[in-house]
Formats: sequence, C-alpha cells, structure tokens
Amino acid sequence: MKKFYVTTPIFYPNDIPHVGHAYTAIAADILARWHRLKGEDVFFLTGTDEHGKKIESAAKKQGKKPKEFVDELVKKYKDDWKKLNVDYDRFIRTTDKDHEKVVREILQKCYDKKDIYLGKYEGFYCTPCEQYYTEKDLVDGFCPVHKIKAEKLKEKSYFFKLSKYRKKLLALYKKGFILPKSREMEIINRVRGGLQDLSISRTSFDWGIKLPFDEKHIAYVWFDALTNYYSATREKGKEKFWPADLHLMGKEILWFHSAIWPAILLSAGIKPPKNVFAHGWLTIEGEKISKTTGNVINVDELVSLAGLDSARYFLMRSVPFGEDGDFSRTALVDRHNNELADKLGNLVSRVSALAEKYGIEKTQNDLMKKFKEKEIENHFENYELDKVLNEIFAFVDICNEYVQEKKPWETHDKKVLFELVEAIRKISFYLSPFIPQTSEKINKIFETNKIKKAEVLFKKI
Ligand code: MSP
Repeated sequence: MKKFYVTTPIFYPNDIPHVGHAYTAIAADILARWHRLKGEDVFFLTGTDEHGKKIESAAKKQGKKPKEFVDELVKKYKDDWKKLNVDYDRFIRTTDKDHEKVVREILQKCYDKKDIYLGKYEGFYCTPCEQYYTEKDLVDGFCPVHKIKAEKLKEKSYFFKLSKYRKKLLALYKKGFILPKSREMEIINRVRGGLQDLSISRTSFDWGIKLPFDEKHIAYVWFDALTNYYSATREKGKEKFWPADLHLMGKEILWFHSAIWPAILLSAGIKPPKNVFAHGWLTIEGEKISKTTGNVINVDELVSLAGLDSARYFLMRSVPFGEDGDFSRTALVDRHNNELADKLGNLVSRVSALAEKYGIEKTQNDLMKKFKEKEIENHFENYELDKVLNEIFAFVDICNEYVQEKKPWETHDKKVLFELVEAIRKISFYLSPFIPQTSEKINKIFETNKIKKAEVLFKKI
C-alpha cells in the first residue's frame, strides 16, 4: 500500500494558536484527507516545540514551571485543532520521552561521525527566533524578522559541521527537494554562497535536552525540534513512514527545513525527507498578525465568522497556495455568501428538491465530460490547493448553468437530474478534504437514489 507522511511545523506553545498556525494545520489536514481518500496509508503529524529560552521566559513571566506552562497551552492547541477538524494521527511534544531519546541518539550519531565539535560562539541572539544572527544580518542592530534588539551573547558551544554538507545539499536540491519552485533559488544561492557551521548547544539556561556527550550543554532548540519528524516514526509500527513525504511550513522557517534538517539527517546516516513545501505568510486586513497591536484572529473567532467549513474553504481559496496573502473578515463572508451559499448550496438544494419530486434515471452522462478530474488530481499532487478549488467551482458553475438551460422543473427530465446528481456526488468527493462536514451532509442526501430535499447547507450572512 502506498504511504503518505505529512507534517506541520511543531508550534511554540507560548501562546494560543491564531489563524496563521491554523492555516498550516488545515492545509496539512487537507492533504492528509486527500491521500486517505486515495486509499493510501497516511500518517499526519503535528505538535509542539516546548524547549528553549523562549518558552522558559514565557513560563517565568507567569510564575510557572515550563512544563506546567506548556501543558495548558498544549491542551488549547489540541482543542483548537479539534474545532478545526484537523484530524492528525499523532500530536508530538518535544517533551515526550520517546522524542527526547531519539534526539540524544541523533546527536550521538553526528558526534561519532565527527560532525560535532566544541567551539565558542559570539553573536547576536534573537529569542523569538531562537536564532543567532551575525552583525550584518541585523538591521541597525535589530532582528530582521521581529524588529527587536538582538542580544549580544558569547558562550562555549558545540558546533555542527553544516559546511561539510554543502555539495550534498546542492545535489538534493537538484532532485526538486524544495517546493514551491519559486522559493528554491533563494536557498540554492545561500548554500552555494557557503555555509557556516551551526552552534547546536547552549549553557546559559537549562530547559532542554542534555547532550549525551556533555551534560553541561543542552541541545539547541532547533536541533531538538526538527528531529520530531523523524522521532515520531520510531514508534512501533510507524517506521515505514520514514522518509517523510512532505514537511509543510511557513516560508520564514524554510531554511531550517531545507538546509539544516537534511544536513543533520545526512550526517546521522538517515534518508532526508522527499519534499519540503513553504507556503506564504498571511496578514489580517492588510496588516501583520501581531499580539501587541491586537491584530489577531484566534480559532474561536475564525470559526464564528461564517462556520468552520467556510473558514477552511476561504483560507485555501483566497490565496494561491505558496504565496503570501491576506485574511479579511468581509472577504470571508463574501465568499461564504457568493460561492458556498449561492453556488454550491443552491445547486445542492435545487437538484435535491427536483430529484425528490421527479426521480432520477440512469443515462450516459454528458455533463460529467466537462468535469476536469485529471486536472484536479494533478493540482492536488502539486499542492496547488487553490487551483483544485478553482476547477471544482468552475464545474459548479457549469452545473448551475446546466440546470438553467435544461429546466428540469418544466421538463421533469429524470435523465438530466441523474447527470446532475452524479455531478454533485463527484463535486462532494473532491471537496471533502476541504469541507469535510458539508461533504458528509451532501453524501447523506445523495447516497441512495431515493433523494430527499437537502437542508440549507450554508445560511447566508
Ligand atoms: N517551533 C518552530 C517550528 C519548529 S518546526 C521543527 C516555529 N513555531 S511557530 O509557533 O512560530 O510557528 C510558525 C509556523 O506557524 C509558520 O511556519 C507557519 O506554518 C505558521 N504561521 C504562523 N504565522 C503565520 C502567518 N502569519 N501566516 C502563515 N503562516 C503562519 O516556528
């Protein structure tokens, strides 16, 4: 049986999830559902990145122990993923014992390979990034991502010989490792330009995993975090899922996934994942998502705007998957009204009502010839989720026009209604990864040939 292993980044549980985190989780869920639909053996992994200075400080601020602090937020993440119908197979936490064991094992492997050595680190650390910057990376001394002052730090540290893997990484990129293609060149150029060895241990705080060969040091949080993707497959029965088919993430952490992670694996003698895919960043109403300015949409608000399926649909429909985009509340409501209610809802409601009244009769289906099934499947395979929806909704339009043209309410033509019923079944099949609740309702209505008029699927707002 073909397998498909897809991951989200593991999120920092220093705050509750917002629409940006939900975006990645929903996209991964859609891909997982698509592969399940194809009958594949799917493993969908998500989770939380719980070690490091950032979490330690956030916990301290609330006067809590790090573990106690993250436990509450992990619960919130799990509840929210449930509310979003994100149907993962495992929620991994970097504080899980089985994960910690594998991190130490990989560190030891890289160390035995002589890819880890002791040195000294001097640089500018941005805690929200959990990353060192050189002076020239900073913008007037400020972190280029968070625009806050980076802290000058000097510490003894173990280094990973990232520089040694330059050629091997470039060979990997040649095989089409980085997706979408538009993001590949930036990484290739950076690797071509030369790699610096990576500081992979810390001594200035202790909320993390101890290095097996020097317990005074704790593992750099990114070394620890990236390993989650592999450690989850060390669980009994899950071994067959490695290498991962797809690591999905936001563009800001593509470097960690496309350079550092495969280099660590190559050093440890483990196959790299098949692909990494970096999607773009969402803004809200044209502005950066930010807790400080209050420009945030959490999961409860997201779902309350127009219902869960409309939110899932909107996120995938409104932004070409891979590119940056904007989340606007009114745009969501507009698409809910104009596309889901007026187009899809209307089609289902009219056809089910007419089919109940006049019945259906099997015939050769000319309408279905206009359904671009192959294209849709190709878009799924290429992670062009917005294009999947474009194709499906172009066909929904065709079906609505067909109803108008054939006027089955006048002709009582059972064959036309049969064509439309079959079309809706197909539409529902391909939409089910995006709007699982609604597809289930549609399937219930059309699963037998004794069709009953559907309830309203999407109430207009
Ligand atoms: N813990 C690291 C990842 C380690 S993976 C081995 C991390 N966590 S995070 O909580 O900051 O989550 C970042 C991810 O959340 C992004 O890569 C993206 O998937 C998602 N997003 C967060 N904000 C986002 C937007 N504004 N827009 C789109 N996705 C965003 O980084």
